[in-house]
Amino acid sequence: MPTDPTEVTAGIHDLSFATTSLCLTHEELARHTGAPVAKYHHGIGQTSMSIPTEDEDIVTLAADAAAPIVERHGSDRIRTILFATETGIDQSKAAGVYVHSLLGLSPHIRVVELKQACYGATAALQLACALVRTDPAQEVLVLASDIARYDLDSPGEATQGAAAAAMLITAAPGLLELGTPSGLFTRDIMDFWRPNYRTTALVDGKASLDAYLDAVDGAWLDYRARGGLPFEKLRTVCYHQPFTRIAHKAHRRLERAEGLTSTVQAIDEAIAPTTTYNQVIGNSYTASMYLALAALLDSDADLGGDDIGLFSYGSGSVAEFFTGRVGPAYRAHLRADAHRAQIARREPISYAAYRDLHTRALPVDGTPHEVGRRTLGRYRLAGIRDHQRQYRATRP
Ligand code: CAA
Repeated sequence: MPTDPTEVTAGIHDLSFATTSLCLTHEELARHTGAPVAKYHHGIGQTSMSIPTEDEDIVTLAADAAAPIVERHGSDRIRTILFATETGIDQSKAAGVYVHSLLGLSPHIRVVELKQACYGATAALQLACALVRTDPAQEVLVLASDIARYDLDSPGEATQGAAAAAMLITAAPGLLELGTPSGLFTRDIMDFWRPNYRTTALVDGKASLDAYLDAVDGAWLDYRARGGLPFEKLRTVCYHQPFTRIAHKAHRRLERAEGLTSTVQAIDEAIAPTTTYNQVIGNSYTASMYLALAALLDSDADLGGDDIGLFSYGSGSVAEFFTGRVGPAYRAHLRADAHRAQIARREPISYAAYRDLHTRALPVDGTPHEVGRRTLGRYRLAGIRDHQRQYRATRP
């Protein structure tokens, strides 16, 4: 008898993230922009941002995030890898194929890349759950990896960052069982985009904030109209966090939609456990909401059995509001120490060093190019030869 997909649970069994080896503090940035550091620390809620070394990119970050998952669970049941990014390195080949190779996985796996700005990983997660519900024996590896880059001296510069999240999606999820329904909201809008010929994003900062908050309303109303949980049943909400202060604005927006008016302090308290990683890492686009989830799960709060909301937003724009129920024994699946170590090991760099890295570019004319080893991670971009990126493990 075929399995009835509606009766099969699916969700996140393991969640691991990796970030870069360098960081720029907002104190250092403020010394050069002349902005009061309080604007960064309190106005946008950011204190430092992850900066990649020359030998780190979306592939090395994703492989670094995924390797501990494969080590803990093996890879025999993984049949699909979904790689979400808006920092694509090739117009044709999926970045996940490089990760598949670096991790030494079986050839009997499908690998594909997904894109819709920062929303891509949520599309990947939902597709992964659908695959698992169809065949509960299968597992899916979802990778979300991005490097957020804006023009130097632009308002967006202070919201850069980089990270990758890896998630193992299974039919017996230890961390978070995904709920139904989802609330969806799509609108054709140019709030933030990156044409193929640019390495930095274009953004209409103020319009992007309005677009994000309108999408909060739009996705939430759809979620509720389809029978979703009332706001007060949610322990808290993990929002996409291009900068962490936006989570406060989004939470207020949801409360208003429900006719509620909490104090500033109460909203801050509800949101604070979801922001601790993103406030020091910065925007990681597709990975951002999943870093908010990791921060919440790794916090001291006891969440077992609680329903939490998730708001995913990708400029352009597509948004989704959905929920997950935290597993009763979720603490046994956490990686809090490894996550904190990823952040603690980063080397703070000077503004001059950051600016130099920002302006460097890999050759685009096929010239052979070697990249020196700088990363603290397990994988590195060793160079480019014949227009082909060369990846290596840094450890035997
Ligand atoms: N002390 C405390 N707070 C201060 C301050 C000070 N000394 N000086 C300023 N502030 C506050 C301001 O009042 C403001 O807060 P409110 O919005 O609550 O009023 C906040 O700091 C930011 O100040 P500005 O609005 O003056 O900042 P800005 O114009 O220089 O840039 C930004 C802000 C537009 C968000 C800019 O960082 C940007 O363009 N970011 C990139 C776009 C972005 O992240 N958009 C988010 C939605 S789009 C999305 O989500 C997709 C994605 O990932 C990009």
